[in-house]
Amino acid sequence: MPKKDLEPNEDLHEEYYQVSPVILESFPKFRLPLDTFVFREQVAQLIPLTQAGQRISAEQRQIILDKCAQGLVFVARKDHPVYAEHISKQLDLVLVDSSLKSSEIALIFQQGLTDRLNAFFEQPVASVFLTLQTDLLVLTEYLWQDPYRIKNLRKNIWKEHSLANHGVNSLFMGLALYLRLNDGDLRRKHLDEVSMGLLVHDLGMSKIPPFIRAKTQPLSRDELEKIREHCWIGGKTLHSLEVRSDLILKQALEHHERLDGKGYPQKLPGKEISMVGQLCAVVDSYCAMITDRPYAEALSSGSALNALSQSPGYNDKMVRAMMGMMMG
Ligand SMILES: [Fe+2]
Ligand SMILES: [Fe+2]
Repeated sequence: MPKKDLEPNEDLHEEYYQVSPVILESFPKFRLPLDTFVFREQVAQLIPLTQAGQRISAEQRQIILDKCAQGLVFVARKDHPVYAEHISKQLDLVLVDSSLKSSEIALIFQQGLTDRLNAFFEQPVASVFLTLQTDLLVLTEYLWQDPYRIKNLRKNIWKEHSLANHGVNSLFMGLALYLRLNDGDLRRKHLDEVSMGLLVHDLGMSKIPPFIRAKTQPLSRDELEKIREHCWIGGKTLHSLEVRSDLILKQALEHHERLDGKGYPQKLPGKEISMVGQLCAVVDSYCAMITDRPYAEALSSGSALNALSQSPGYNDKMVRAMMGMMMG
């Protein structure tokens, strides 16, 4: 029989992932978290190999690794949640796993980065920031290889509001807009820094008492003042973590500034607001409007964009680009 007839066919890839050796080696050594299957060439079928949680010996492990190196080990796509959970803890695996579909990769980035951002908001220290940065670089590498991949990412938007969900939503929507506006003139360093700025623009909010953030009633003057400090707090915290990039810091500092000079914290006139500050403002407001918040219900994407286009506070070119993007 010619060799190609022995290879797993397309249908099989619909229901199973072929596991690469790098991924298999990243699983816990003697107890795999999901069922595995081996492709038996003689019968051209998948046969169960090990069960989830079953203890395997060193010899069995070696056999599995050998089979895997030959491209014969599979896991069921129905186990995607377990698989995704595993990969989301080690995001760089996404770049070596050619069997994942782009919609599956998008979910893994969404979950992985949200977990990492949550950890950073809870503990904004250098080591946690570094982990977040390392994982974000996996995403920017993924997009650098093919910017059109952002299309799938921006379909994965959290519907419920939380600080970390909002950061990741802003990252995906913001990158989609940024890539659209900078089509053909993309610089890797800028892409990395704009991404980080979008992701952590509300870092300062993690220092605002949760009871103020969760309030459903109108805020008192003092509470409003407190909330408005989050831009400074975010900028200062990032600075203390040795972040010196203007593209990152300005997003934290300027995302509530408005072109008509009516924003905060500095009431900057429009011409003094950086382009990334303006980009982050559009994206931040859009992402806030399309999720349920403690004080307001979610708007549809169209209504949110309409509201932005009618406000004198936002960059019109960016709002229109966002409209084109959502329609395209
Ligand atoms: Fe904010
Ligand atoms: Fe925000």
